[in-house]
Amino acid sequence: MIARACVIGWPVEHSRSPVIHRYWLQQYGLEGAYEKEAVRPEDLKSFLQQLWTHGYIGANVTLPHKEAALLAARSADEAAVAMGAANTLWLDPDGTLHASNTDAYGFITNLDAEAPQWNEGTGAAMVLGAGGAARAILYGLIKATEAKILIANRTRARAESLAGVFGPRVEVIDWDARNAALAASGLLVNTTSLGMTGQAPLEIDLAGLPKDAVVADLVYNPLETALLADARARGLKCVDGLGMLLHQAVPGFERWFGVRPSVTPELRAHLAATLEAT
Ligand SMILES: NC(=O)c1ccc[n+]([C@@H]2O[C@H](COP(=O)([O-])OP(=O)(O)OC[C@H]3O[C@@H](n4cnc5c(N)ncnc54)[C@H](OP(=O)(O)O)[C@@H]3O)[C@@H](O)[C@H]2O)c1
Repeated sequence: MIARACVIGWPVEHSRSPVIHRYWLQQYGLEGAYEKEAVRPEDLKSFLQQLWTHGYIGANVTLPHKEAALLAARSADEAAVAMGAANTLWLDPDGTLHASNTDAYGFITNLDAEAPQWNEGTGAAMVLGAGGAARAILYGLIKATEAKILIANRTRARAESLAGVFGPRVEVIDWDARNAALAASGLLVNTTSLGMTGQAPLEIDLAGLPKDAVVADLVYNPLETALLADARARGLKCVDGLGMLLHQAVPGFERWFGVRPSVTPELRAHLAATLEAT
């Protein structure tokens, strides 16, 4: 029987995961398959209980199922527990469902690859947003850097709630104070949905950022957001959202298909072309 995995979402049509995993299956000459499964929220638990019967050894999980997938799994790694959400699942030979969350791994691995200097300065890391993506970024940053972490969100209470989860190293600042705080920041990460196609732009004045600062945007549609275009024009190092998407897929592929795949410029270009086509 060939190894099969899938991405589970509702809706799931937009997911880019099949593009990534099918590319790797072909690249490494593996006899596997990666499918899309549209599963309604009320059906998720039974779908996961029957994952093997559906022919799968594992799955990626996307919106709105990430929290419920964690609850449905028999065991979860530290990252999934800390983030309260799972994006990668696999079955043991004995049928036990395991959960992981690879978003923080994907973000930090990509940051290290694209901007290795990001952690060398003395500046703070400033995170904009306090949704699910911000939670992954905070978890990753707490582990990867000793820098102070600032978080600003339109709804301050959500930022405070996240800071409560991650402890005193995370300091909440007002959304309106974001420009002023840039002078002390060596890394700026946009985890809001602002700047996405169809969404309002992110309003921020980058003039105060130190010249050696790194600007990362989780938004990948468009790939070159207005934030990144502005940062690039100022000579700042930029990291787009596509790299995180690619790197977060690596651990799942290795689990299911037994090969640790590489994130290459060719794969990046292949994925970017599918974004441009939509
Ligand atoms: N590159 C990747 O691999 C990757 C992975 C995950 C997510 N993402 C991207 O990250 C983004 C956020 O995802 P998410 O799951 O965290 O979404 P989410 O949970 O819905 O959070 C959205 C965030 O955006 C903020 N926001 C929305 N509209 C705003 C506005 N008009 N003004 C100010 N703030 C606004 C929200 O602030 P409030 O709390 O005030 O509503 C919240 O902080 C999306 O674009 C997603 O595609 C990328």
